[in-house]
Amino acid sequence: MEKKRKGFIVAVDGYSSTGKSTVSKLLAARLGFTYIDTGAMYRVVTLKALREGVIHDGVVDEERLGSLLPALKIGFLYNEGKKRYESYLDGELVEDMIRGMEVSDKVSLIAALPVVRKVLVEKQREMAKEGAVIMDGRDIGSVVFPDADVKFFLTASSEVRAERRYRELLAKGETVTFDEVRANVEKRDYIDEHRAVSPLRKVPDAVEIDNGNLTIDEEVREMAAIIMRKYESRD
Ligand code: DC
Repeated sequence: MEKKRKGFIVAVDGYSSTGKSTVSKLLAARLGFTYIDTGAMYRVVTLKALREGVIHDGVVDEERLGSLLPALKIGFLYNEGKKRYESYLDGELVEDMIRGMEVSDKVSLIAALPVVRKVLVEKQREMAKEGAVIMDGRDIGSVVFPDADVKFFLTASSEVRAERRYRELLAKGETVTFDEVRANVEKRDYIDEHRAVSPLRKVPDAVEIDNGNLTIDEEVREMAAIIMRKYESRD
């Protein structure tokens, strides 16, 4: 069993707000795998960049940001009371801050920088060395783990995704309009697909799941069955 688990990797890539993290967390809990949210890592770096004032008029001072990255500590801890994983920046709990519009608005800009991707991809490979993991992101099956045991690519229309995100933000008490949220989702799609380094794309060996018409339960069951088939057939 232990041998089977070690280094077993499930990659979950796809557009923003396709519910990657929701299904990945549920799958991890159901299968006893470790969940790693790589989007949160890009968000933590973005928060740091905003705090350090390295973004000016949509342009990032890459050299300064690059010099801050080696010492930056990104952590995740599971909060039993809130039943969620929470992100930490240099030991400070920043989970709510990294999900707000300010960070969401700038994160694609930061995630497009080679200096940032290099450091975070190294961290991600390091984090997946031990047990079985489910990692969600944009480039997990294409760049971070091209040999992942199972790869998924999640899609849904931008309308459906904006609606989900809008409800999430309203529930958190943010004052946004649906049109602003949809514009943010579409802008992020464009930047994620067109950036020079590790653009978002479906790799040929990924299983595409369009979840616009699936309940979460149906989606999790379908994905868990695919993972378990692969897991059971592993030496
Ligand atoms: O999944 P998310 O919305 O939290 O991701 C935030 C941003 O980070 C998104 O614009 C794409 C980027 N990202 C990335 O480029 N590579 C990853 N592996 C994960 C996220």
